[in-house]
Amino acid sequence: MIELLDSVELEEIRDDFPLLAQRVHGKPLIYFDNAATSQKPRAVIEAMNDYYHRYNANVHRGIHALAERATREYELARAKVARFLNAETPDTIIFTRGTTESINLVAQTWGRANLKPGDEILLTWMEHHSNLVPWYQLAASTGALIRRIPLLPDGTLDLSQPFSERTKLVAVTHASNVLGTINPVRQIADAAHRIGAVVLVDGAQAAPHLAVDVPSLGCDFYALSGHKMLGPTGSGVLYGKRALLAAMPPFLGGGEMIREVRADGFTCNELPYKFEAGTPAIAEAIGLGVAVDYLAQVGLQKIRQHEQELTAYTLARMAEFPEIVVYGPADASARSGLVAFTMGDIHPHDMATFLDADGIAIRAGHHCAQPLHKHLGLTATSRASFYLYNTRSEVDAFIEALRKTKNFFGACPTSRQLGVFGTTPVTGAQP
Ligand SMILES: Cc1ncc(COP(=O)(O)O)c(C=O)c1O
Repeated sequence: MIELLDSVELEEIRDDFPLLAQRVHGKPLIYFDNAATSQKPRAVIEAMNDYYHRYNANVHRGIHALAERATREYELARAKVARFLNAETPDTIIFTRGTTESINLVAQTWGRANLKPGDEILLTWMEHHSNLVPWYQLAASTGALIRRIPLLPDGTLDLSQPFSERTKLVAVTHASNVLGTINPVRQIADAAHRIGAVVLVDGAQAAPHLAVDVPSLGCDFYALSGHKMLGPTGSGVLYGKRALLAAMPPFLGGGEMIREVRADGFTCNELPYKFEAGTPAIAEAIGLGVAVDYLAQVGLQKIRQHEQELTAYTLARMAEFPEIVVYGPADASARSGLVAFTMGDIHPHDMATFLDADGIAIRAGHHCAQPLHKHLGLTATSRASFYLYNTRSEVDAFIEALRKTKNFFGACPTSRQLGVFGTTPVTGAQP
């Protein structure tokens, strides 16, 4: 049965987010920049406040009441995240500062230990720079080669070709931060495992919006950012399969990640502490634990359904403009809750500035996906991205602001294309 957020629930949710009540430039704020970062519910802000007000202490070290409470809450947050992702055990959850750090951790530890010259790292055209640059760096230091899965004109991946036997790692986004495409992670993981490759999934744009079950996805690593899913900045997670994490060398060196330090060396701590050198972001981890509780309580199925409805409605309303080109799958059920678009020859920065004057926050630029934009023959797009607290009436206001923008700039019509862009062959070239 399809579950939807009803209007009362939506109102209650909006009341939980104090920031949403404000006016910007004299207009009610419409926050459509959720793919960049989400807003935070009162419960998350209060949990972090509570830590600093009542039990601020370092974790895993002190033998006093505050330290014990801080440690308990920090480890409880880890257990909540493990449950949220349906991970095998809490020790497969490493706290990081976000997706970027999680991916760098895997590149610098698993990658350096396992890749040799001629091995292939398989990426896609739709990756965020965070899921590109760490692999470019790894390729440069190991002699591995970068390859890409091609894109189809509808904004999905062309998985028709079998992966090369030389592929050792497949790093793919679960949901694109530009096209919105939700990738078939299970299918990719099965194909990768058939040739013995390891699969890392960038979950930055999926974990906030879809029910993620890592065993069902079949991936080896899953990276996410807390700040995009109602949690604080500086919080993030790397999930890894236990056997892989256990075999990996540590990432950063320092306190906490060691069991013993001698005059001539050290031995590593057990999981997950081996990968958490130094004092962690304690308040942030606790805040993330409350954020995942909040999401689970509303229900990821409901959140997904709500965002899908908003996206379908936005796509339908955008079709009123012959000047608008939307990038990514035409069907809202194949994409996450974001819409990247261009309107004739209006520069996306002008579009975002114009909408801001109406209190509407969108994102304009390359969204840290420059190779994708180049692939599409673009330098920038505008992007509206939704979350559980957004409403249809906000979409209506957004559409009216688009109309005003068009009238002001006098956008030239383009031939209507929904998700159309040229594909280029897979390159094996080093960046
Ligand atoms: C798909 C994707 N991957 C990775 C990132 C990087 O996330 P963070 O900056 O939180 O590390 C983002 C952020 O926008 C993203 O959209």
